[in-house]
Parts: sequence; structure tokens; C-alpha cells
Amino acid sequence: MNVHGTVRAPGDKSITHRALMLAALSRGTSVVRHPLTSADARSTAACLRELGVGVGPLRAGAAVSVQGGTWRPATRTLHCGNAGTTARLMLGLLAAHPFETRLTGDASLRRRPMRRVTEPLGHMGASIREEAGDGLPLRIRGGRLGPLDWSLPVATAQVKSALLLAGLAGGVAVTVREPARSRDHTERMFRAMGVPLTRRGTTAALAAAPGWFDDAAPLDWTVVGDVSSAAFLVAAGLMAERGEVRIAGVGLNPTRTGFLTVLSRMGARIEREAQSEVHGEPVGDLVVAPSALVGTVVTASEIPSLIDEIPILAVLASRAQGETVFHEVGELRVKESDRLGLLAENLRQTGVGAEVAGNSLTVEGTERPPRGHVETAGDHRLAMAFAVLGRLSGARVALSEQRSVAVSYPAFFEDLDRITGP
Ligand code: S3P
Repeated sequence: MNVHGTVRAPGDKSITHRALMLAALSRGTSVVRHPLTSADARSTAACLRELGVGVGPLRAGAAVSVQGGTWRPATRTLHCGNAGTTARLMLGLLAAHPFETRLTGDASLRRRPMRRVTEPLGHMGASIREEAGDGLPLRIRGGRLGPLDWSLPVATAQVKSALLLAGLAGGVAVTVREPARSRDHTERMFRAMGVPLTRRGTTAALAAAPGWFDDAAPLDWTVVGDVSSAAFLVAAGLMAERGEVRIAGVGLNPTRTGFLTVLSRMGARIEREAQSEVHGEPVGDLVVAPSALVGTVVTASEIPSLIDEIPILAVLASRAQGETVFHEVGELRVKESDRLGLLAENLRQTGVGAEVAGNSLTVEGTERPPRGHVETAGDHRLAMAFAVLGRLSGARVALSEQRSVAVSYPAFFEDLDRITGP
């Protein structure tokens, strides 16, 4: 495989969800530029439309306008599709709205834990009715909220953000403490908007700001490129035999770039160029050259900053010299699939030594061409990681499906073909 050319990373998924939601709370017409237009982003847009928010069509290459401010009770169940971020952040927002809403999702999302967010929202004053234990479908009735001071047992930006959004929408103080820092887009967006939020270590504290949106201007937000989507193209560049590839406009928030730190330890040749900042988010181009990698140890404290990159890092580790260990990756069991079990199983299916012991994953590097059948279980990041592995010379990797890439990166195969094509 050779690589060449330049691609622009699609809009960041985390920031797109948040920008649509904050625009939906803002009065008047907001604009979100370079949004992600994937299935997950459409789930957020569809939920907001059900609640009476005027969200324009999400079209690749176009800005989206959002007519926000007043929400009305939904007449139907909100369907969050495959998107955990949609479900959890919407729960935070709905906690501050005085009506009942029922939420559900696809089979994968219905299996994912929701009590991590509904429990603290219950402490704030929302009432929750579960239909199937710890997961969707469930009903939430919001209303007047009280302040919250909450310590999260695991670092999770989805729960942290849900609580901060509940506090902002409900006009009450919320302090969230995390064991390690998860992605901090919500905090950066609040700060860029002028919302009173302070941070100390891994604690974020929102001050009570009742009626904050009453005199706030509508949003005009530009979404930076998604570093998690760019990671698959970075991997193609590293595993190539010849060439160089540039991925332009990538968000380089340090709470998201743990995989770049790990890769540089492994010997990767990746340069950051054209760096600037957009609404408090660092952004730049990644220029990637083929590299001989060596195995490494990824520590527990690094995991939150690369949580979505573990599938592609594990694939890269399978091509590195020696062994790579990922410590404390138990959270992968409750992602879009049991990513931990499936990652190890699929690596073994393609001829790579991989073991899960407790909450750790070990991958043995090999030079043998990967060959075998991969079960993605409809998980977009497994599909993309193994699709990249399947581009190696001599590889024969068959994916159980590849439609799931539409969840986060609809143009993935086009972009991969473009940088690896003739
Ligand atoms: C996200 C946070 C992460 C990540 C997910 C998006 C977000 O989940 O895996 O893809 O936008 O807040 P957790 O924070 O639950 O680990």
C-alpha cells in the first residue's frame, strides 16, 4: 500500500452533538459550520426536531441552521439510534424541561448503561422510569432542578457533559469530579460562550446561571475535524510502504490526542502543521509518513485520552515489533459493542496473538499478512480499524459488514481509497 495526497477530516462527532444541543437551547437562529453529517449526528438532530427545535437538514459540506429557544413535549419516543452521546446528553437537557419524554435506541444502544447518568440526574430532581433495567428504553420527567456535586467512578465525558448541560439548562450549580480527565469539549464550549465554568485538576464547576440563554446571542460555531476519524487515515499512512499523507483541519485537543503520544513512543513519524485555534479548540494538519513501529505499554491514565482509538491502535500494535499492552480498558465492554472481547477475537481471527486478562489487552506484533473473517457486530470503529488492516499488502480480511461506518464517518471508504489509490 502507498499513500499520497490530502484529505480534510470530517467534522468532530462530540463537538457536533454539543453544538447542535447548545444551539437548540439558544434563542434565535444559530449556525453550526462544518458539522459532522453522519448517522449519529442525525440522531441528535432528529431528537431535537421532535422537541420542536428547528434543525435544518444535515448535508455534507453545508452549514446547518438551528432555530432554538423553546422546546415542547415530544409526541413520539425519541430515537437515539446508535449514539450513546445523543442519549446521555439529551437526558441531561431533558432533566431541565418540565415534561415527560421517552427515549430509546437501536439494539446496541439499548444494551448500554444509562444509570451512570440517570442516577445523578435523579439527585438533581429529575424523575426516571426504566423499562428494562439499566438501559434504554426509559422515560424522564424533568422540572426544577437542585444543584449537584458529583464524583464519577469512571472518567466519562458523556456523563460529565450531561450533568453540566443539565446545570446550564436548569440554571443551577453543578460540580463534576472525575478520576482522570475525559475529553473536555463541553467545558471549552462553555468557556468560549462565556458560561461561568471553572476548572481545577479533573474537577469542572459550573456556577448557577439562571436564565443564561435569555440574553445570550445565538451560536455561530465552526466544528473542527474529528481526530478519532482522522486516526484511521493516520494508521493507513503509518502502515504504508511508501508516500506521505496529509489530513487537514484535525482537532488536536490534548484530551483527544493520547493516541498521537502513544504512537510517537512507538516510533511513528507524524508532524503537526498549520496549527491554530477555533473557539478554544486547537486544530492543525497531521502529516504522516510510513514508519516502523515498536510495541509499548499504554497506561491506565492515558486511556481516557484515546478511548475511541484503541481499535486502530491495537491494529497498529499488531504490525509493531514486540508486544503492546493496554491497561484498564474495561470501559470498552460498554461501547457500541463489547469492543474489548471483539477486538481480541478479531485480531486472533486474522492471525494475530491477542489476549484479554482482567481489564488489560495484550497484542503481539507480527509480520504475517492478516487473513481471516472479522465480525464487526455493527461497530463502526471495528469496521474501520479492520478495513485499514485489510489494505496491507498480502492481506485478505473479510468484514461481516461495512455499512456501520455511516455512524461516524460516511465518506470513510472514499477517503481511504483516495489516499491509497493510484
Ligand atoms: C464521547 C465520549 C466518550 C466516547 C464517545 C463520545 C463524548 O464516551 O467514547 O465516542 O462525545 O462525550 P465516554 O465519555 O462515555 O467514555
